[in-house]
This record gives sequence, structure tokens and C-alpha cells, in this order.
Amino acid sequence: MSNQSTSATNKNTNLKPEDFFKNVISHSKEYGFIFPSSEIYDGLSAVYDYGQLGAELKKNIREYWWKAMVQMHENIVGIDAAIFMHPTTWKASGHVDAFNDPLIDNKDSKKRYRADVLIEDAVAKIEDKINKEVEKASKRFENFDATMFKSTNARVLEYQKKIDEVNERFKNAMNANNLEEVKQIIVDLEIVCPISGSRNWTDVRQFNLMFSTSIGSVSDEANTIYLRPETAQGIFVNYLNVQKTGRMKIPFGIAQTGKAFRNEIVARQFIFRMREFEQMEMQFFVKPGTEMEWYEYWKKARLNWHLSLGLGSDKYRYHDHIKLAHYANAACDIEHQFPFGFKELEGIHSRTDFDLKQHQEYSGKKLQYFDPELNESYVPYVVETSVGLDRLFLSILSSALIEEPLEGGDSRTVLNLPAALAPYKAAIFPLVKKDGLPELAESIMTTLKFDFMLAYDEKDTVGKRYRRQDAIGTPFCITVDHQSLEDNTVTVRDRVTMKQERIAISQLHQFLTERTTIQSLLRSL
Ligand code: GAP
Repeated sequence: MSNQSTSATNKNTNLKPEDFFKNVISHSKEYGFIFPSSEIYDGLSAVYDYGQLGAELKKNIREYWWKAMVQMHENIVGIDAAIFMHPTTWKASGHVDAFNDPLIDNKDSKKRYRADVLIEDAVAKIEDKINKEVEKASKRFENFDATMFKSTNARVLEYQKKIDEVNERFKNAMNANNLEEVKQIIVDLEIVCPISGSRNWTDVRQFNLMFSTSIGSVSDEANTIYLRPETAQGIFVNYLNVQKTGRMKIPFGIAQTGKAFRNEIVARQFIFRMREFEQMEMQFFVKPGTEMEWYEYWKKARLNWHLSLGLGSDKYRYHDHIKLAHYANAACDIEHQFPFGFKELEGIHSRTDFDLKQHQEYSGKKLQYFDPELNESYVPYVVETSVGLDRLFLSILSSALIEEPLEGGDSRTVLNLPAALAPYKAAIFPLVKKDGLPELAESIMTTLKFDFMLAYDEKDTVGKRYRRQDAIGTPFCITVDHQSLEDNTVTVRDRVTMKQERIAISQLHQFLTERTTIQSLLRSL
């Protein structure tokens, strides 16, 4: 895998973040990665379709995750549970009663916000002030020590105190479901509506995020079922089936990828927050008391997986949760630097034995593990890794899209995707549409297409064809020219370096295998 981080020469970095984000969205549409859902009817808010290239990229990301989690771990297996589940599942999991967002409306703009997001954004602004102080001081003093500065500077200490106070108040308010206090925090922080600029807020109230529908022909309450808001519960209810039939020994994991649905209120930021999205989750069942070790293990393992994509280590960071979900005793996010700032990409949660115990109670079926070493049965604890495939797609696409200056003042748009994830592994060009070159190009295509997704292009100059492939992330362009007819070699042009080399046609398969397969990425883990 080549490290594609060429952002030092990226003209996009000079754009305002919102303009760059607009570029990402329009590029996605222009090249067939992502379309608004049912666009001919003006689209459906926070729902998107993946086009011909998006579907390929998404499939490759999913495959890399699946292979890294399942194929590379003898003690992790994968399943594919249904989207519809018995409605009691969601009573037991706590989603019916507690899968809520605290909402608040601004009475002047009539806009609705998530109260927790308003508070988090206000805290982030205070954090920015600290960062600015640190930046100013680092310019002033030689041998600047940021840690020392943060622990001694009065203004910074004041800001930090405020952040700690707000976080503590917010955590307590949410844990006690004290929505009046949540509103009071918004009032005390003097948060204004970004649209109306006013502080004229309604009370905060809870809103359940699950979509419901009815099963069978009679639509009454008894037939109400939910579209799953997370894939995890499909794993929990199958815990015993998999453990027994797979003769799994603790510690072991069950992984799955699949659609999840949430009636998101603040549905914006393109595919970052969608109403229908795909999750890739793994529940790791462990002996009670060992969960923190495994939690640390999976925190590191998952960050490594993201780093293996080569999009820049400075683009990822951990964020430990202050407000824990009802099922967790520790939780953190791996955040990614999206065009609109650092935001959650993946969650690592130590979920205790909450889910299995709840399902045990509601179903009346024992969900335990007999530990032969201890000669006793217990309900396993669970460490979960949960990443949104669409969000991951956005993180990769937005980090990979660059505008690279070229000699002579020109520039090229290039999607520096990890080669193994690129929709096409190579594009094959006959130099001209005559002299037997298309026939030779097609015969190369016929041999390689069993193992590689390939594009074929014979229109326009080779330069223009290179640009088209650069913009969709194709790592290699193979040109068949007159010399090919004589010595059975072709030129292979590298997307990142733009250098060309001559390679024997018989070597192409090995060349692409070494550089563009998921296996090549897995080896870098
Ligand atoms: N099973 C745990 C769980 O679902 P979560 O933090 O609610 O935890 C996990 O979601 C991941 O799913 C998030 O880190 C994010 O990547 C993705 N995700 C959640 N809601 C999403 C949405 N509305 N649109 C896109 N991705 C979403």
C-alpha cells in the first residue's frame, strides 16, 4: 500500500472547511459515488444511494473490515441477522424506554436541535480558546512546554474549570434524566440559535429514535415492530446459538455488518448522520473481570486498523465518554478529522453483562457460558467495537480527495484512496483505437478481470484518461502501445507518483496482486 498522504501540497487545504466539504459532496455525485435518494422526486432528507463507484468502494471497505475482524481472528465468527426482530428485543435492550435524544426548539427560527450537541459545541468553543492560548504562547516562548503551560496559566485554568463544570453538570443531568437542568445549562452557557441568533428556547424533551412499522395484515399495537437501530442486538439474541454450534470458547467474538435505522433529528452533514445507514459491529464475549483488558486491547486494535489506511495518523484521536450509555462501564470514540472537525467515527464500548442479562430476564432462557477452567457458569461480559460504514466511507473519501498543484501552474484532482479499497484496481488504455491495440488491451482485460475490477477507456488523449482515473482513485493505468505488439510489455502509470514503468504483460497479475488486494492491506496491520 502506498501512503497517500500528500496533503502538504494539497490546494484543498487552503479552502474554507465548508467549501472543501461542498467539493467532497459534488465530487461524490459527479463521479457516481453517492446520489441523494430518489433524487427525481427531490430526494429524501438524510437518505442516500451509492452509485456505481460508491458501491464498489463501500464493498471494499466492508470486506477489509470483515477480513481483519473475522478471517484474521480464529476466535471471531460472522453472522447475518435479520433487520426485523421480536419487539421484546427492544424492550429488553432498553431502546424502547431510553433510546432518546434530548431535543430543544428555538422559538424564533422554529429550528430543532439536539440539546447535547448544542452543549458539546459550546464546550468545543471553550476548548478552542485554550488551544489559541497555547498557540499564542508557543510563538512567544522558546522551549515552550504545553503541558506545563496548561497547568499554570490562569486563563487556561479558568477555561478548563468551566469545561469540567459543564461536563459534570451535563453528565449528572442526563443520568438523572433532569431535562430542566439540561435547559438551564444551555441558558447559563448563553447558547444562541445559529439561525435566529436568539436565546428563546423551548423546554428540553426526549424523542425516541426508533422507526416502527407493523408486521402482518392487521395494524394494531400488538403487531408493531421496529427497524433495528443497531445491529448489536441481532448478535446478542444469537449468542447461545453461535456459542453452542460453533463450540466457541471464551474469549470469542461475533461480528456482523448490516443496515440500521434511526429517526435522526439533526440529520445533516451528508452521509455522516443518516436515517438509514450500515454498521459493522463486533461483540467480544469475555470472562467478567477481564473486560477492561479487552477494552484496552480493542481500542488499540481498532485505531491500528484505521491507521493502516495510510490517510494520516494526525486525523484520528480517542475521545473518552463522560456520559456513559445505560449499558456501558467504559466507552470511547475513535474520532476522525472530517471536513467539519473531529467527530465520532467508531465507538468502543465495554457493555458489561447488561444485554445478555436483560435478554435472559425477558426471554426466560439462560444465556450463560460454562467455563470448563473454573467449572462454573456465568453470563459473559461484552466489549463491543461499532463503526458506521457510511461514516467510514466519508472519512476515507474526504481524506483522500486532494487538489494537487502540478508544474506549470496547472493542478489535478486526485482521489488518493488506499489501492486495495479503490473501485477499480487498474484502467486499461489502448494508446490509439487502431493497429490491433484495442484487441490486445481487451485480451489483457479478459485475463485479469477474473481477479481485479478493471476499467477500460479508449476515448480522448491518454492525459485526459489519466485525469479521469485520478479523480476516481484508480491506482494504476496500463497503456497498450505499439511496442506492446513487439515485446509484450505495457506502460504502468502510478496514480500517486505519476511515474511510468514498462512491465511485461505476463507480470501484470502479480504486480496488481502485490499492490491492490485486501491481503496487501491486511499484511500491513
Ligand atoms: N451498538 C452500539 C452503537 O450502535 P453508536 O455509537 O450509537 O453505538 C455506532 O453507533 C457507530 O454507528 C457510530 O460510531 C457511527 O459510526 C455509526 N452511526 C451511528 N448513528 C449513525 C447515523 N445516524 N448515520 C451514520 N452512521 C451512524
